[in-house]
Amino acid sequence: MIGNITIDGPSGSGKSTIAKAIAKELNIIYLDTGAMYRGVGYYVVSKGIDPADEEGVLAVLDQIDMDIKYVDGEQKVIICGEDVTPYIREHNISMAASTVSKIPAVRLKLVELQRKIASKTDCVIDGRDIGSYVLPQAKNKFYMTATDEVRAKRRHLELVDKGVNISYEEVLEDIRKRDKQDSTRAFAPLVIPEGATVIDTSDMTIEEVLARIKESIKC
Ligand code: DC
Repeated sequence: MIGNITIDGPSGSGKSTIAKAIAKELNIIYLDTGAMYRGVGYYVVSKGIDPADEEGVLAVLDQIDMDIKYVDGEQKVIICGEDVTPYIREHNISMAASTVSKIPAVRLKLVELQRKIASKTDCVIDGRDIGSYVLPQAKNKFYMTATDEVRAKRRHLELVDKGVNISYEEVLEDIRKRDKQDSTRAFAPLVIPEGATVIDTSDMTIEEVLARIKESIKC
């Protein structure tokens, strides 16, 4: 039993690419917790609620019956029986997810589901508070980071690939805004978890990051 492997870090640090690859190699599940916050952000926006309106979000929180499923190895976010996965990667949903994620009741609801999944099966689980708050007892914890500029460049390429018309400068500004919001919130902010191996991926290839993580994993 390898146990759960946690990977935290800011947007564009390379977490999801690496988490997916490690999970595939170890033949365990990849749990993307950002997708869960995105699911809540999407739901709130689709109901016409401002994600910053805490009372408005709290009023619909109980209606959000979320489930995580895997189809051909791909994670799907299901809300009230509907697969919302195709909509949660929209650019405006990134900030909505970050904004609703400040609300403690939103976090507690999603953390309960994350812990439930991680208690049933070994996962590579990525997010912002996994090694520090969700699974602090995990023996394999990683924190990935990169300079703001490198992360913005990666995110910009991804968005342009998807056909989004946005400038690099706008992406850089959004990334900085989101980082600030995620790392300064009062409840379970983005921090380097105690005991985590820190990897700065700014000048590393995916293969180099993978090798670094594999050599650090304790069984
Ligand atoms: O990883 P991501 O960019 O898809 O996450 C979207 C937002 O969700 C992120 O800006 C903050 C929030 N989030 C969080 O607060 N805690 C997590 N464990 C994962 C994501």
